[in-house]
Amino acid sequence: MVQSEDIIDEPIILTIAILGGTGNQGPGLALRWANAGYRIIIGSRQEKRAQATADELNEKLGSTFIRGMRNEDAAKNANICVLTVVATAHQEVLENLKDALQGKILIDVTAKVVFPNADVPSPPSAARVAQNILGDGVRVVAAFQNVPSHMLALDLDEPLDLDVLVFAENAETANEAMMLSDAGGMNAYYAGGLDKAIVVEGITAVLVELNRRYGSKDGAIKITGIEK
Ligand SMILES: NC(=O)c1ccc[n+]([C@@H]2O[C@H](COP(=O)([O-])OP(=O)(O)OC[C@H]3O[C@@H](n4cnc5c(N)ncnc54)[C@H](OP(=O)(O)O)[C@@H]3O)[C@@H](O)[C@H]2O)c1
Repeated sequence: MVQSEDIIDEPIILTIAILGGTGNQGPGLALRWANAGYRIIIGSRQEKRAQATADELNEKLGSTFIRGMRNEDAAKNANICVLTVVATAHQEVLENLKDALQGKILIDVTAKVVFPNADVPSPPSAARVAQNILGDGVRVVAAFQNVPSHMLALDLDEPLDLDVLVFAENAETANEAMMLSDAGGMNAYYAGGLDKAIVVEGITAVLVELNRRYGSKDGAIKITGIEK
């Protein structure tokens, strides 16, 4: 367990803002990264709601260094932003946060899979849409679309039995998400540019179907035959 006093003297501690971090996916990612020593800001449309989630997560970790803010303030105060808003709000949220995100890395977790049908989404990928809205001043990465929220909050010190595919326009940008993936106990591969990320959004739709069919919540993916 990491206490706030344990990390206060570290020379460089990245702050990660999780925008829309009050739902299913955001809190699990927050717990894993906070447990690895990152500073976390939970973002929400409402500051009170963000702070309530931050308080819950701090209580789980026995820490005090997860904060809650409005999405815009969270983005401004972070080095890396992670987008976990509900898929139907993706575009609107990005348009509202365009200024606050300039100069940052944005890891987009969105899979445009809309319930209850969970149909396979069509291109462009959510990450490509994000890059188009935000412009060249933001480096967009797609990652974590195939990580079930329920698994993230399980034993935080244990690696997860799944792989993460990371998409970005260059390896340096992808590396930022790969590092966070490693820190959260997830094995990641750099799988190509932002347009290819539509494939993992489609896999999310397939995992939803598999989970329904086989009565699971834990469907995920693993890559074989590739040595890193
Ligand atoms: N759940 C999973 O297992 C999972 C797995 C992989 C990928 N994903 C992807 O991760 C993303 C988030 O999934 P989720 O299950 O965490 O979603 P969620 O719980 O339904 O919603 C996440 C947050 O989105 C915000 N939100 C809702 N409506 C909004 C609106 N109109 N405008 C702005 N913000 C709004 C809410 O935050 P506030 O009300 O606090 O603003 C909410 O807490 C999705 O794109 C999903 O495809 C999810």
